[in-house]
Amino acid sequence: MASVLRADQISKSFGPIEVLSGITLALMPGEVHAVIGENGAGKSTLMRILSGHLPPTKGTLYLNEQERRFSGPVEAEHEGIVLVHQEILLAEDLTVAQNLFLGREIRRYGFVDDGAMRAKSRAILSELGVTLDPDTEVRRLSIADRQLVQIARALLVPHKVVVFDEPTAVLTPVEAESLFEIIRRLRAQGVAVLYISHRLNEVKAIADRVTVLRDGRLIGTHDIEGLEPIEMARLMVGRDMSKLYPDKPETASDQVVLSVRDMAVPGYVEHASFDLKRGEILGFGGLIGAGRTELFEGLVGLRTSTGSITLNGKPVRFTDGRDAMAAGIAYLSEDRKGKGLLLQQNLRVNLTLAALDRFSRGSFVDTAKEEATLDTAIRDFDIRARQRDMLAGQLSGGNQQKLLLAKMMLIEPQIVIIDEPTRGVDIGTKEQIYRFIASLAEEGRAVVVISSEMQELIGLCHRVLVMRNGRVAGEVGRADLSEDAIVFLATGVHEERAAEIAAGHV
Ligand SMILES: Nc1ncnc2c1ncn2[C@@H]1O[C@H](COP(=O)(O)OP(=O)(O)OP(=O)(O)O)[C@@H](O)[C@H]1O
Ligand SMILES: [Mg+2]
Repeated sequence: MASVLRADQISKSFGPIEVLSGITLALMPGEVHAVIGENGAGKSTLMRILSGHLPPTKGTLYLNEQERRFSGPVEAEHEGIVLVHQEILLAEDLTVAQNLFLGREIRRYGFVDDGAMRAKSRAILSELGVTLDPDTEVRRLSIADRQLVQIARALLVPHKVVVFDEPTAVLTPVEAESLFEIIRRLRAQGVAVLYISHRLNEVKAIADRVTVLRDGRLIGTHDIEGLEPIEMARLMVGRDMSKLYPDKPETASDQVVLSVRDMAVPGYVEHASFDLKRGEILGFGGLIGAGRTELFEGLVGLRTSTGSITLNGKPVRFTDGRDAMAAGIAYLSEDRKGKGLLLQQNLRVNLTLAALDRFSRGSFVDTAKEEATLDTAIRDFDIRARQRDMLAGQLSGGNQQKLLLAKMMLIEPQIVIIDEPTRGVDIGTKEQIYRFIASLAEEGRAVVVISSEMQELIGLCHRVLVMRNGRVAGEVGRADLSEDAIVFLATGVHEERAAEIAAGHV
C-alpha cells in the first residue's frame, strides 16, 4: 500500500544544534501511528515539519509518494494535513466560533456569515461530545475545553492526515475516551492519524504502529501487537523502567501545618475544609472543573476567597501569590505557559525570578551567582537544555516543567502545592518528579498534589481528597486508594457505569 505522507531522512537544526537526525517515517492511510519519546526527543518538531509549520533542514517529504515541499501550514492544510498543537494556541479574546474559523471564515456574498459559522461550530462540538456555547469567549474556558476547541478546529477542514500532539494531557479519562472514539472513526474513514502521548497505556489502546524517537534519532517503528508499555518505556528511555513510584515516605508527624476551614471561592468552591500535615503528600482528585485548581488559587491569593486559613497555628490571608511565597508556600500552577514561566526570557531569569532577593546585591543582580544556581538546577533536575542561553519557550514541554520545579524550590518552601505535576512529562522524567516529591515529604515539607491521573494519586499520595462540583466530596485513605474509590467520589457513580454514561450507552 502506498503511504499518504512519508518523511525521508529528515533532519532539523536550530542554529548549530541538530534536534532531528535522519528521521524516516511512512504514514499509511487508515492507521493510527503513535510517536513516542522522552521530553525533548524531537516529537513536536517532527510533527511541525510534517504539517508544514517548519521546514526541514535536510531530507524530503512525500505526499502520496510525490516529493512535496510546504511553504507553510496553510498549504499543508489545503492538502488535508492538520496539526493539533501541544500548546494551546487560541485567541483568548475571541469566541469559540471565531477561533474555530479564524483565518478561514465562512463568507456569503463577501460577508462573514456568523450564523453559518455558529451552526457549524455547534455541529462539530457536539460531534466531539462537548457542550460548549460557540459564543463563549475562549478566555473563560478551562484548559480542557480549550484543548477540545483546538481539536474541533483541526477537524473542521477536510483531512487526510491528522496530527495530535499530546491531545489528552489536559483531558479527563472520560473526555479522552470520546477523543479515542473520534480517532477510531477517522481511522475507519481511511484518515491517517499521528498520535503523540506520554501515556503509554493510551498508546497501547489506540495505536496500530509506534515509532520511537530518542535524542532526535529514530530508534525504530514497531507494530503494536506484542509491544507492551513497559517495553515502549525501555525503548524510549534506553534503560529498564520497572518502578515508577518511589516508596511512600512514612507520614512523619501529626503536626498540622496548614488548616483550611470553610473556604469558598465564589463561583467555584464552597465549604472546603482540610488539614495538611508535615511530611505528608496529600492528593486532590476529581474531574477537571471540580474546583481543585480554583481552591488552591484562592488559598494562595490568586483569587478572592473567604473562609479561614491557619498556617502553623496562626491565621493568615494572602492577597497575592507573593504573600504566600513569603510565608513559605510554593504554588506551581497547572498552566505553566500562562502563569508559570516567562517564555520569552532565558532559563536563568526564569529560574531566579521568585527568589531574586537572594541574588541581589544592592540594586544589582549577581549574575554569576545566578549562573551557578542554573548549573545546579540543570544537574539536579536533569533539565535537557541544548544551549544554556535558550529561552524558556524553546525548552520542550517536560523540561519547562522541570525548570518550574527548580524555580519554586529556590524559595525553600515549607509547603509545596503542585497542580498536575507530570502533565506532558515523559515516563523517565515522571519517575524523577515522583522521587523528587517523595523527597520533599521526607525532608518534612508538606506537599499537595492536584492530579487528574488517578494512578499518580494512588502511587504517590498518603491520602486523597476528591472534589466534585466545587465541594470536597470525600477522602480516600491510604489503605483504600483505588481508581474506583476516586471515581466514585468524583462522579457519584462507579467507574464502569461512568464510562457507560460517557459513551452514551445509558
Ligand atoms: N525554536 C527552537 N529553538 C531552539 N531549540 C528548539 C526550538 N524548538 C525546539 N527546540 C529543541 O528541540 C528539541 C526537541 O524539542 P521538541 O519540542 O520537538 O521535543 P518533544 O519530543 O516534543 O518533547 P516533549 O515531550 O517535552 O513535548 C529540544 O531540545 C528543544 O529544546
Ligand atoms: Mg512536544
